[in-house]
Amino acid sequence: TAEKNVAVLGLAVAKSARSRVVVEVAGASRTLDVDTRVEALRASELRVVNKRLALARSDEPKKLLAAHGVMIDERLSKPLDAMFARAEREHVALEAVSAHRDFDDQARVYDAYAARDGKQAADTYSARPGHSEHQLGLALDVRGVDRRHELEPAFKDTPVGRWVGAHAHEFGFVVRYPEGQHAVTGYEPEPWHLRYVGPEVAAFMHARRDIATLEKLFGLPAAPGY
Ligand code: DAL
Ligand code: ZN
Repeated sequence: TAEKNVAVLGLAVAKSARSRVVVEVAGASRTLDVDTRVEALRASELRVVNKRLALARSDEPKKLLAAHGVMIDERLSKPLDAMFARAEREHVALEAVSAHRDFDDQARVYDAYAARDGKQAADTYSARPGHSEHQLGLALDVRGVDRRHELEPAFKDTPVGRWVGAHAHEFGFVVRYPEGQHAVTGYEPEPWHLRYVGPEVAAFMHARRDIATLEKLFGLPAAPGY
């Protein structure tokens, strides 16, 4: 049913059809065609993962491949190549830090942070296993080759961080945890964490500064906590 499918993807589905629906995005201002068959939704590049919408341990990309030193869903291959090529042409020394992490990888990452800083602090910057976009293979952390403010909010104001903020959408990526959205995302700003949503949605969100998160885009509840 449409309702069950909505739960899978977390989308606000306005009207159901046999296999495709029109999804209302940000009220009446945008519609997207989405294939609502459950398997298609599970694999959709628009699938929303947050502290309220979890992945199963078995939710894994259909096809993973190595590129730019990290593991990615194959759908990121061309956009990433294009983004890195453009950065190079513009003399921006950009590199990938990490992308896909499976459920167990994420558990190790989260547990290490929780052991170091405590769970409450870790929850402000690291997802618990099953709640990370990195498990989708559709998220990518980047840094400058100079490593200036690597994985720090101040990355945003470095030359590389500014380039990422200005251009990532052209390749289908959004900065998933922007400044000032903690109450919605549950995370401190991560100007280095890019989520692939495809060029259409990314361009739309870049143009609409009032729609800073996927939760807002799809009319989903805020997810500040578990
Ligand atoms: N740092 C982000 C929230 C993650 O762990 O997926
Ligand atoms: Zn990340």
